[in-house]
Amino acid sequence: MNKKLYFGTNLKMYKTISDTLDYLSKLANLTKDISRDSLELFVIPSYTSLVKASEIVDQNLIKLGAQNMNWEDQGQFTGEISPIMLKELNLDLVMIGHSERRHVFRESDIEENKKVLAALSHGFTVLLCIGETLEEKKFGVSEEVLRRQLKIGLHDIPVARFHQLWIAYEPVWAIGVNGIPATSEYAESMHRLIKECLSELFGEEAKQIPVLYGGSVNPENAEDLIVQPSIDGLFTGRSAWQAEDFNLLIRGSLLAYQNRISKADACK
Ligand code: 13P
Repeated sequence: MNKKLYFGTNLKMYKTISDTLDYLSKLANLTKDISRDSLELFVIPSYTSLVKASEIVDQNLIKLGAQNMNWEDQGQFTGEISPIMLKELNLDLVMIGHSERRHVFRESDIEENKKVLAALSHGFTVLLCIGETLEEKKFGVSEEVLRRQLKIGLHDIPVARFHQLWIAYEPVWAIGVNGIPATSEYAESMHRLIKECLSELFGEEAKQIPVLYGGSVNPENAEDLIVQPSIDGLFTGRSAWQAEDFNLLIRGSLLAYQNRISKADACK
């Protein structure tokens, strides 16, 4: 079955406002001919870039998202950004629980849950990031960790809201300059588990929640990953930070996916 594929990048604490605007206009231009029926393209830049980016970007082509959000609407939370402030920018997407938030800034599953609940109630689409550490993987508890992150992170979410959820599976050991990318077989097995857990939480239909793989996605492994049946998209860092490279990665992956579908159809 043909499905929409998700491709996104998190710009982390890279790119100034002018770098971001330049990147976004190049990416929009390079990818504008790709039908958005088959592609959901999103970019998550720094807060400072979001103001101008939201003015110049056609979000039908590239959806913009925020990297984090506080759960309160306002208050004594120096340095934080609230859902109301993000809504003012005409944003629709917020990322919650990125590995660097969890591990560098020590955010807990309970805090992620407060953010998810607040974001959903303000009408955002939430990209909840989950993933086990290398130590947890070595102890053989990856599945328990993912289940815990989903069950606490998504606690108390009304079933009707599951349409506003996207999940990114980003094993901590796979992310960043020292990361080792997960094999496509390993990623597929974890995505299957995530979909199983989502359907336990929200019913069979929740298998439609897009689950994206992230962690050292690159031009060599993107095609193998995207053709896996339970992988609905790729969430990329470094390999997407040049618009030209990201465009090629997206096109190569879409083609690999189309070829897999055509082969499967021919075998029927
Ligand atoms: P890398 O692709 O650079 O490993 O980063 C992945 C990531 O953290 C996306 O959020």
